[in-house]
Amino acid sequence: MYIGVDYYPEQWPKTRWAEDVRLMKELGINVVRIAEFGWQLMEPEEGVYDFSLYDEAIELLTSNGIKVVLGTPTATPPAWMIHSYPEILPVDENGVTISFGARRHYTVNSGKYHQFTKKIVTKMAEKYGQHPDIIGWQVDNEYGHEKSDRSYGALDRAAFQCWLKEKYQTLDELNQQWGTVFWSQTYTDWSQIPTPRKVYQEHNPSLLLDFDRFCADAYTAYNKLQVDILRSIVRKDQFITHNFVFTDQAINQWDMSKDLDFVSFDNYPVWGGLAEPIKPAAIAQQHDLCRSAKGGKNFWVMEELSGAQGWSRIGYLPRPGHIKLWTYQAISRGAEAIVYFRWRAAQFGTEEFCHGILDHDGLPKRKYEEVKEVIQELKTFGDEWINASYEAEVAAYYDIENAWAWGIQPQSDAFAYKQEFLRFYRPVHSANVLTDLVTAADDLARYKAVIVPIYFLTNSEFTEKLKQFVSNGGTAILSYRAGVKEENNFVTGQTLPGALSEFTGIQIHEYESLQTSQQNMVVGIKGTIKGQESTATIWCDLIEPTTAEVLAEYKGCFYEGTAAITKNSFGKGTVYYIGTALEDAMLDGLYDDILAEAQVDTFKTNGEVEVVKRGQFYSFLNHSTTETTPVKLPDGTWKTAATNELVKGELMLKPLQAVVLINE
Ligand code: GLA
Repeated sequence: MYIGVDYYPEQWPKTRWAEDVRLMKELGINVVRIAEFGWQLMEPEEGVYDFSLYDEAIELLTSNGIKVVLGTPTATPPAWMIHSYPEILPVDENGVTISFGARRHYTVNSGKYHQFTKKIVTKMAEKYGQHPDIIGWQVDNEYGHEKSDRSYGALDRAAFQCWLKEKYQTLDELNQQWGTVFWSQTYTDWSQIPTPRKVYQEHNPSLLLDFDRFCADAYTAYNKLQVDILRSIVRKDQFITHNFVFTDQAINQWDMSKDLDFVSFDNYPVWGGLAEPIKPAAIAQQHDLCRSAKGGKNFWVMEELSGAQGWSRIGYLPRPGHIKLWTYQAISRGAEAIVYFRWRAAQFGTEEFCHGILDHDGLPKRKYEEVKEVIQELKTFGDEWINASYEAEVAAYYDIENAWAWGIQPQSDAFAYKQEFLRFYRPVHSANVLTDLVTAADDLARYKAVIVPIYFLTNSEFTEKLKQFVSNGGTAILSYRAGVKEENNFVTGQTLPGALSEFTGIQIHEYESLQTSQQNMVVGIKGTIKGQESTATIWCDLIEPTTAEVLAEYKGCFYEGTAAITKNSFGKGTVYYIGTALEDAMLDGLYDDILAEAQVDTFKTNGEVEVVKRGQFYSFLNHSTTETTPVKLPDGTWKTAATNELVKGELMLKPLQAVVLINE
């Protein structure tokens, strides 16, 4: 298995390189990623190419047995280029042109930028495409990150209008599909259509959703431009990937991944001003996203956090054990290679305080020793582990367009898509049930249960698949605001939940949006949650069951006694509807009943212990920084994967301890 570091030789005197390579070899790494920000060095002026620095670095690294992944440097267009071709710069929604001076300062809709991209990628491919120790390519860096996913300049507007013409063919169709008769917005010429720049109120939701689709398509096309050039020149076994960040930006990771050999991911459980790492379930969900984006295939973590990160605010300091814990979590959920960010903290530039395995003094210390321990352990069982299969029994529906629709209309100031998706995903994570994230394109037949959180923007293909899945005996869990919007982002004219009414056995004639300061209560009336109470926040659907039975009701509001959670039989299966945002405790109780009835295997643990099965390998991950936690092992023979020692009955996990056992 590949375990490596992100290395920036251009940021250090060449006299330091040999020591870096000596320490890397001692650490046991076998791959580095370089050059993703090296455009100026490779093309110091227009049309003049100089690869000498990377030639030397690659020679030193590969002659010491370290393989190389090359980045195409298109996240950092050089000053000379921007100076001569300022139209490359992106424009924000207020019409402000983004300045040179940081990174990602280009619009994908600039034909000039495409030309420069083609030249530099072609030159690099011709230079390194046959090199025996260059194993692959990372195209660009974190597309769309740091608000670079949408640009609103003249070039973007013209490209958007072309995209719309392609999609709708006629203005009548566009006006129809957007409902432009509203507020006299009917377009009589394509050139009248704006990008959603600043307005006093809010833009038409259908225009906004199409703009996100357009931005995502433009990035997918830009990525493909680079991939096609590389594929046409480099050796067939040099892989091509991209290091995604999975946020709800206007990037469609699923579309883009079709052109890549596998997905890569930058795993930062904590960054910048965050005082605490994100929840273990949130990290796990990201890994599930990586697999989902490429049909369940293994992925690379191209940037695995090793030190505190931040620009002008330095974030949380990972504790002893965090590097190993987060590395093992990633591998247990489908990562097949780990590349740590970064080898050594830079002494200059915006990211001086993005710390690495080595800090500014370049001396090997705590983090270096922790990574060494990880590499030594993985040398004993890593290859087997990464080839072991990850078999999920439960899926969660994740549609990036639904995330965009929510981003356009969150409807409550307490709503955030990632937070609410996680609310309904987390209970399966804490029951240590393996999950996949699925889209409308995926087959649901192999799952026992499918969670469909906040299914606001519907997808008719998925709705049909879900109904089929349940009528064949599956279990579906829906949450509030399901079935509201049709694919053109119009609100359905049917009584809510629209096309899902018969399926859920309910009708919703009223609903209430709750802001951050507001809450109602819910009381359980059936099953494990009977008598249990929970706050009801963010949204309350006032459910009227038609065929469904009621599992919980609202309390302490004018609709006290109205159904809040229901259960309906549909065909041979069952559909649950959770009409509000509940607290974790009640969701855990409810999911216990649902998973038991759906005969889904759970692995109950105390505290913050995550258990992930991958083939015969079980990783036990204690995310608590303070609690030592016992884990009762099910019957059978358990051995430590690293040392083959027998483990009987119970595993005592220290704070942040990560242990992999083999179950025979
Ligand atoms: C990202 C980028 C890196 C660097 C790190 C800092 O993931 O890809 O270039 O900015 O974050 O943590």
